[in-house]
Amino acid sequence: MNPLHVVILAAGQGSRMKSALPKVLHPVAGKPMLHHVVDTAKQLGAEKIHTVIGHGADQVRASLHDDSVNWVLQTEQLGTGHAVAQALPDLPDNARVLILYGDVPLTRKDTLEAMVSDLDDSNLALLTVDMDNPHGYGRIVRNDQGQVQAIVEQKDATAEQQDINEVNTGILAVSASHLKSWLPTLSNSNAQGEYYLTDIIAMAVDNGLSVTVSQPLNPFEVQGVNNRLQLAELERWYQSQQAERLMTEGATLADPARIDVRGELTIGNDLWIDVNAVFEGKVSLGSNVVIGPNCVIKDATIADGAEIKANSVIEGAVVGANAQIGPFARLRPGTELAANTKVGNFVETKKAVVGEGSKINHLSYVGDASLGRNVNVGAGTITCNYDGVNKHKTVLGDGVFVGSNTSLVAPVSVADQATIGAGSTITRDISEGELAVARGKQRNISGWERPKKA
Ligand code: UD1
Ligand code: CA
Repeated sequence: MNPLHVVILAAGQGSRMKSALPKVLHPVAGKPMLHHVVDTAKQLGAEKIHTVIGHGADQVRASLHDDSVNWVLQTEQLGTGHAVAQALPDLPDNARVLILYGDVPLTRKDTLEAMVSDLDDSNLALLTVDMDNPHGYGRIVRNDQGQVQAIVEQKDATAEQQDINEVNTGILAVSASHLKSWLPTLSNSNAQGEYYLTDIIAMAVDNGLSVTVSQPLNPFEVQGVNNRLQLAELERWYQSQQAERLMTEGATLADPARIDVRGELTIGNDLWIDVNAVFEGKVSLGSNVVIGPNCVIKDATIADGAEIKANSVIEGAVVGANAQIGPFARLRPGTELAANTKVGNFVETKKAVVGEGSKINHLSYVGDASLGRNVNVGAGTITCNYDGVNKHKTVLGDGVFVGSNTSLVAPVSVADQATIGAGSTITRDISEGELAVARGKQRNISGWERPKKA
């Protein structure tokens, strides 16, 4: 089949966003709208993705470094037909061309695949949608046999045409050779003085092409974003889709309306996810995982049976099977917790590798550390890993018991089964099985009299 080229229009200003950020860079589900469109184009197997930019061109270009994207500059926004024409020199004659929009981020791959799969020189594929209130959109004009004849823009439509409820989504596909013969002949003598891409429909009909019309499964697929209200609508639709998927795949959601997936979330079976969970980046949750309320989990792997209790924040971490995390725990990048570990409230970990069955239950900072199996870290233990310039490591062997309120001044190493008395400041290595106590000796002074007011 002829190669597929995608042209994405993204040169408009988006003034109704009231934003310094170009419209197409506003995120849906944590990803710029334009990047959603580029990703979809790639999933379709596009040989090249031509993105027409104008307003905020530098920012838009800088947001995406990708060899399959060709940036096409449209210095003046003279209309959608003019925009596509800017990409013509970069389109091979034999290409099938699909036109998409940087501010229409959530079109399903299947919807577009259906349009381009049967495309050849004899047809033009058009995506339309029926709207209760079609005001503002281009209307699909059909003849008595129901064949599409033209698209008429709102401002150019007769009163009769304005009653048509079938509207143009803007998305269409046609071969490059046709675009190359039609676009240079567009005129801008219309109500808006613009070169309309939509005028090519009548040209296609004149040239004897058939217009193949399809519609999306859901109108949100073709909803564009002109302001932040529409952005929020799309975001909620996207999230409701994610929630449905997760429930279908085996997660019980306390409230499907209170979960946000901004990235790629994969799950096992029989999970329980409480309200206000936010998942970012690449997250994988095993079977029987329980996520408490208000957790933020980013780029993490959580194994079967682990429980993340309320208000925990996890980033760049691996959590082993049946581990118990939180409430109020913070796992930072490089944290690797083995099975049956416990990290309790107000504990922060970073670059900490923790062996099976070890516990850090309360109020601790454990960073640049490696802990063996069945280590018990008492409340208020701090690894002093930073000397102001360099980071140093703390190593605790299997079965080590760290008394509460201990400072471990790294680099320091504590061998298997060693015990540290509470309140110690440990600056030297401890050998296997030893007890280390490093704190001021207690003196009890009898007959002590408290000072009195003079
Ligand atoms: C367009 C269609 C209309 C359709 C509607 C769907 C035309 C003439 N009309 O109207 O039939 O119902 O979309 O939303 O095509 N753009 C550029 N360069 C330009 C002009 C536009 O890149 O010179 C981009 C804009 O950034 C925008 C998109 O193309 O993302 C659509 O342009 P816009 O002016 O909003 O078209 P509409 O008037 O909405
Ligand atoms: Ca528009």
